[in-house]
Amino acid sequence: MDLTVPAVSHLLQRATALEHADPLVRDRILQKRRIALLFYESSTRTRTSFELACKALGADTTLVSSLSSSIEKGESLKDTGLTLRALGAEAIILRHNSSGAAWLLEESTRLPVINAGDGMHEHPTQALLVGPETLSGVTVTIVGDILHSRVARSNMLLLPRLGARVLLCGPKELLPEMAAKSSPGIEIERDFEAAIRQSQAIMMLRIQAERIANLQLDLEQYKAAYQLTGQRLATLAPTAIVMHPGPIIRGLEITAGVADGPQSTILEQVTNGVAIRMAVMERALTTDERGAI
Ligand code: CP
Repeated sequence: MDLTVPAVSHLLQRATALEHADPLVRDRILQKRRIALLFYESSTRTRTSFELACKALGADTTLVSSLSSSIEKGESLKDTGLTLRALGAEAIILRHNSSGAAWLLEESTRLPVINAGDGMHEHPTQALLVGPETLSGVTVTIVGDILHSRVARSNMLLLPRLGARVLLCGPKELLPEMAAKSSPGIEIERDFEAAIRQSQAIMMLRIQAERIANLQLDLEQYKAAYQLTGQRLATLAPTAIVMHPGPIIRGLEITAGVADGPQSTILEQVTNGVAIRMAVMERALTTDERGAI
């Protein structure tokens, strides 16, 4: 993510303004503009929130998914993008299983391409859901499968820029030492209880089974070491907020009681997804600042 801090601030402010705008006024911002959602991987939150955001701004959307399109017949990403452009798409929202796919599609089509998650690389709009414009004095701990998480990577790039101290926590198989070098302001703390004791925000991640090849992980040991339980939260971080990009795997990285409990902001983050994605789409289609998200 190449967004500057002022650009992030502007997006967050626009998200709030758009959320509270008169729907009849908001509806004219992207009236009849054509936006394609191109999804090579499954999604519930990102796809739905982008689609609702585009429609709230008055745009026409179409969904192309890899399972019900000519991608199944072998059409390439480039040809799919060019086809969508020929059909009038003015921007493409892309989720893809390969890192760098959003960049490649933008190069091929010269359209604004919004990255809705590319392989193990980035998921920038998910990171924008963490919240306030400044995180000075806040320690955020990201826990779990950091190696395979594009959400973690986007947060590791963004949160230190907003002033946060970021602790990464997880076993060596899912959190290599080199992760601490991804950005200034990032530290590794392998002891989960020590990490959450220092945290004002705890971001739990699921184990990305679909990206793990030949990794034998003892899930009972993993839960014993890293599961966020009600008891851990109550004794070590009673005022911290709990985040999770979803989908959550109840009973693995987080207990149902914590996911549904008063410290959880999981569904609030989902709700905020529509507003931030409205701001992102407005930026992509009404300004020259179209790339880098
Ligand atoms: N957080 C996230 O990307 O969820 P989806 O895969 O459901 O879009």
